[in-house]
Formats: sequence, structure tokens, C-alpha cells
Amino acid sequence: MSRLGIFVNRQTLSSSPQLTALVKCRDAGESMGHTVEFIFPVDIKKIPKLDALFIRANTDPMNTTYVAAKMAQMYGVPVIDDPSSIQICADKINMYMHLMKKNVSIPRTKFLKKKELDAGSACQLFEELGTPLVLKEPSTSFSVRVEKVSSVLELLKIAKRFFKLSDWIVVQEYIESRFDWRIGVLSGELLYACRYIIPSETFKIQASVNGHIVYCDVESVPADQVPPEVIELGMAAGNAIGSGMYGVDIKESNGKLYVIEVNDNPSLEGGEDAHYPGMFRKIISYLMTGDASCYREELSDQVYGPPGFEDEYGLGSATTFAQADAPVENEVYSYKIDFSER
Ligand SMILES: Nc1ncnc2c1ncn2[C@@H]1O[C@H](COP(=O)(O)OP(=O)(O)O)[C@@H](O)[C@H]1O
Ligand SMILES: [Mg+2]
Repeated sequence: MSRLGIFVNRQTLSSSPQLTALVKCRDAGESMGHTVEFIFPVDIKKIPKLDALFIRANTDPMNTTYVAAKMAQMYGVPVIDDPSSIQICADKINMYMHLMKKNVSIPRTKFLKKKELDAGSACQLFEELGTPLVLKEPSTSFSVRVEKVSSVLELLKIAKRFFKLSDWIVVQEYIESRFDWRIGVLSGELLYACRYIIPSETFKIQASVNGHIVYCDVESVPADQVPPEVIELGMAAGNAIGSGMYGVDIKESNGKLYVIEVNDNPSLEGGEDAHYPGMFRKIISYLMTGDASCYREELSDQVYGPPGFEDEYGLGSATTFAQADAPVENEVYSYKIDFSER
């Protein structure tokens, strides 16, 4: 019997879907014969005694999740996310450089230096990349510091704000699309696929609109309904970063595909697994054996329902619950996701 640790913090436990996903993960581990324990930041000293560590708290090279990942690595404990993936994905410049190096398709992208910011360089960016442009502060997450700009004045204003946090910013051509594909990749293999439907009020999957936050809908999509090029691009993007677990965002526009972002520590609580009931088992199997392909998804008609009250409070097991109106196989399941706490 092996010991699996799931690293969590207070934020991770603050929402019902996150809690439900954690319980589901614990139950999956236990059903595979492992002992599973939640590791809080104060328990970090337990890490060397584990057989594997699964980090399910917001990762950042500046917080304890990184220390946990590094500690696991130092003691030879297999870990998701590994420190290198956390470091690369936390910085968009680093992340895009990795994608560019492997010729992974991304929107036309420039990195702008603080010293270069003036009306002339702004004009040139519009000439080269078109209008509108998307600006990103490299450490952004949850769409927080991603803005669309359509004029030189707007660009200068947003860029100035972002340059307070970083010496470089990302400037990108705008790719119009109704949804982002989210391709879950585990060690170079497909873990799940879904669509994040962009709310009509914004161009991002999450945004603050008139003081309230709007979130995308999540639609789990069976693998055989995902264009193979999308899956291939997702895998190529994941492989460009490392061999861990990633959520790759892809846009499709005018018949072309573009990787918008590779996320380490992707959301697993938004209903991503509706068509992939073995998702947690696959992750745990990979952590324990180093082989993502050794757990094969049982393509059953078993379907996971949306997060439930019982699971949140650890009452029932977090395994499947049959719904009277369970969607038929191959249907796309849709949930609303709240990314705010991750
Ligand atoms: N070049 C782009 N064109 C159009 N929309 C974009 C572009 N880049 C990002 N977005 C939208 O903004 C969202 C947030 O951008 P992303 O790069 O993922 O930053 P974050 O790390 O903050 O999530 C994306 O999910 C996507 O919907
Ligand atoms: Mg994103």
C-alpha cells in the first residue's frame, strides 16, 4: 500500500466544487488501495515520507506550493506539479518562449520592455499585430491582468499599469473565438477535453463586469468529438513545458489553431471529468507508477454528476451518482465554473 499526499490550503477548501473534487480524488486513491491524506502547509515535513504528492492548491514559485514541490523532488517523491512546470507556467514570457522553441502555434506575440514603451512603439505594435491587441502582465492568472486594447492611448494606459508589476509585458494579436478548448494533458497523453465557453459580456473566460464576476461555462467533450489536431496541439504544448499535468487553452479561428496558454495546476473541479470518469485514477496511477498509459479509461456509461452537497461534507463517497436524467453517452455536459479561489 502506498501513501498519497494531496497538498491543499485554506483557499482550496473554500468552495464546494473544489472540496467535492478533492474528496473524489481521495476516494479514487483509496479505491486503488492507497492511503490518502491531505497535506496542509503546516504538515510540509510529512512530504519525505510520502510515496507521491499531488498539489491541489494555487501554485506559484513564491508560495508554499513551490516549496512543497521542491521538497518532494529533493526527496525523490513523485510530484504533480513539479517545480520546473510551476516556474515556467507562472511566467508567461518563459511559457511562450518554451512554446516558440518547439514551434507550437501561438498567436503572433511580442514581448515589450518597460524602457521601450512610447507612442511610437505602440503604433508599431498595432501595425504589426493588428487591432485590437491583447496585453498580458506575465504573472497573471484567472484572466486578472489580461486586457484588450484598441488604441495607442489605451495601450499606453494599460501597459503602464502592468509595468508596475513587471519589466516586460506580453503583446499579442487578438484571436476571436466563442470558446477556448481546454485540453488536459498528463505526461504527453490526453487526460480530458472540454470547452470553456466565453461569457458574452467579455472576451476572457472570467472577468469582472460592472463590479460582479462573470464565469465561463464548462462543457466536457468526449475525446472522439474533439478534432484530432486540437488534441495533438494540446499534447505538443504540454510536452514543450514538461512531462507533468497541464491544462492547455487553445483557440480556433479561421481554420487555424493557437495555444493561448499552458496552465500547470489546471482546474479539475469544473466538470472537466464528466466524460472522463477515470481522470483522478489516471493521475494517481501516473504518480505511483510513472506511466500515464497504465491506467486505461474504462469507457463505461458511468457518468459523474455535478458537484453535490453530500460530497462537499464528506458524507457519501465522491464516486459517481446515477442521475435519473443522466445525459446519454457522447453528450456534452455543461457546468458553470468559478475559478476565483484557485
Ligand atoms: N490573444 C488572445 N486573443 C483573444 N483572447 C485571448 C488572447 N489571449 C488570452 N485571451 C483570453 O483571455 C483569457 C485569459 O488569458 P490567459 O493568457 O489565459 O491569462 P491568465 O493566465 O490570466 O488566465 C483566455 O482564457 C482567453 O479567453
Ligand atoms: Mg488562462
